[in-house]
Amino acid sequence: MSDPSRPVRTAAVIPAAGRGVRLGPGTPKALRTLGGTPMLVHAVRAMAASRAVSLIVVVAPPDGAAEVGRLLHEHPLAERTDLVVVPGGQTRQESVQLGLAALPDTIEVVLVHDAARPLVPADTVDAVVAAVRAGAPAVVPALPLADTVKQVEPQPPGTPEPVVGTPERALLRAVQTPQGFDLATLRKAHDIVVEGEGATDDAGLVERLGSPVVVVPGHEEAFKVTRPLDLVLAEAVLARRRATDGYV
Ligand code: C5P
Repeated sequence: MSDPSRPVRTAAVIPAAGRGVRLGPGTPKALRTLGGTPMLVHAVRAMAASRAVSLIVVVAPPDGAAEVGRLLHEHPLAERTDLVVVPGGQTRQESVQLGLAALPDTIEVVLVHDAARPLVPADTVDAVVAAVRAGAPAVVPALPLADTVKQVEPQPPGTPEPVVGTPERALLRAVQTPQGFDLATLRKAHDIVVEGEGATDDAGLVERLGSPVVVVPGHEEAFKVTRPLDLVLAEAVLARRRATDGYV
């Protein structure tokens, strides 16, 4: 699939190795369908829709790389985007690391995008890439919060949790993907930060390096499909796009 004569600069790594337990029992989350097409295929197309992205690395469930490879073969991309599938790990951090290991040295900018955010618009992807190319080592799309957030002291299920603080809502952002990075910076962050130290996204690892991370506007359609209700919303967004934008 690759054309070795063409320089590749921006790649997207899509961790898709999670089981998706919160969505209920069944197929791994990334392989569940939205409007008849696997969620992962939507996520891959969303990255390929950005003209900047010339290589996509999909990180598949450890025992499902062949199946994912077959699936993506059945849903081909336009010629200009190369696609590689690698097996993932036990945690998201490990899966991303395995994806980064598959990138050639020609890559300078990398996006990390959750397969669980299948409907992120191309404009959001482009805005993240542009901010990295403009010199920011780490860029995250994010939205202001609608809900007030409480910090609590966690208790066993059934026991009310004491509130220990209320961060000022105007200062908080809900972070989405794709998160964009200077590849050398993200590799360093993954090498240095030990698994289990509580970083729930890639930018969090870069923050621990002491490197700056900036936020650009996210998009409400870049939400993460986590719980059953999210599937209902995703189907509705997809149906609207198909009716009005000719989206496949
Ligand atoms: O579990 P969560 O919703 O945070 O997962 C975010 C993304 O990380 C999903 O796309 C999921 O498939 C991926 N993941 C992974 N490897 C794991 C766990 C999660 O690639 N071991």
